[in-house]
Amino acid sequence: MSDKKRIFSGVQPSGIITLGNYLGAIKNWTQLQDEYDCIYCIVDLHTLTVRQDPKELRQRSLSLAAIFLACGLDPAKNIIFLQSHVSAHAELTWILNCYTYFGELSRMTQFKDKSQKHPDNVNVGLFDYPVLMAADILLYQTDLVPVGLDQKQHLEITRDIAIRFNNIYGNVFKVPEVYIPKVGAKIMSLQDPTSKMSKSDENENNYISLLDPPDVIMRKFRRAVTDSETVIRYDEENKPGISNLMNIYSSLTGKSFEEIESEFAGKNYGEFKAAVGETTVEALKPIQEKYYFLMQNKDYLQEILKQGAENASRIANRTLAKVYHKVGLLPRL
Ligand code: TRP
Repeated sequence: MSDKKRIFSGVQPSGIITLGNYLGAIKNWTQLQDEYDCIYCIVDLHTLTVRQDPKELRQRSLSLAAIFLACGLDPAKNIIFLQSHVSAHAELTWILNCYTYFGELSRMTQFKDKSQKHPDNVNVGLFDYPVLMAADILLYQTDLVPVGLDQKQHLEITRDIAIRFNNIYGNVFKVPEVYIPKVGAKIMSLQDPTSKMSKSDENENNYISLLDPPDVIMRKFRRAVTDSETVIRYDEENKPGISNLMNIYSSLTGKSFEEIESEFAGKNYGEFKAAVGETTVEALKPIQEKYYFLMQNKDYLQEILKQGAENASRIANRTLAKVYHKVGLLPRL
């Protein structure tokens, strides 16, 4: 095994991948692949906590794998796999359930939010969601977990469970840390620039999908909410819309806010929006081409996922065997 630090992250195959997901996360992952030992999991089991159309879920899982590769994650350098292909995730979840308290899961804000959103389906899986996530992370002796703010509470409970287990049985799990990337923009909704660009948003004008065609991208930027001034200047508080567009433009071009301000001095919002749109179209073009190519080569994608599951299983089963032994389960010879 290498002495590089290990990164683990999971993404649900539950919706459209947005420009926000790309600039805020996936693009940075491609820059970690040499420095770290990276594992990316398509968390299909988590997705079952809300009702899914089976055919669509299969399609989305494969599509997300294609997106990862199209965005530049190299399958030779990263492990990319489906959670349901590595049975250790479900198995460790059961064990960890017995070391997690009803009270602490009841306090999870995501559980409370989602129960309110789906009052007719407050299932046990939804309640247990954080424990499955803990199992994901702990199986791989993960050092760092790159997650957004909304997942910090889940990382804290993962740490609590790991520490609790280690206190009883010795050093079984590495206690993971949140990884806050040095770069990586937080991209906001185009229609409501005070909330995050979300892939589960009902209003599709709020987000740019990584697979939006050029005319749609241009239109969505044209309609983006701005302010009643006319000057292009970075000011998150008073000009959240323009600042968000500047963030997008800066992430795509590498230009600083000062450079952007002088580039667009004297220009109007329409011109700026068109420039952001064109830059986005250009940046997404090679990703989309690779994506559609991969989706026509499903055998290749499936082979990548098979390899990924094999490599992941090897690591995960080692941890699971240790856990089984520690808690007193007889080994199967
Ligand atoms: N809960 C995470 C989210 O919705 C997805 C996830 C599942 C995850 N397992 C994980 C993220 C493990 C990081 C590590 O974004």
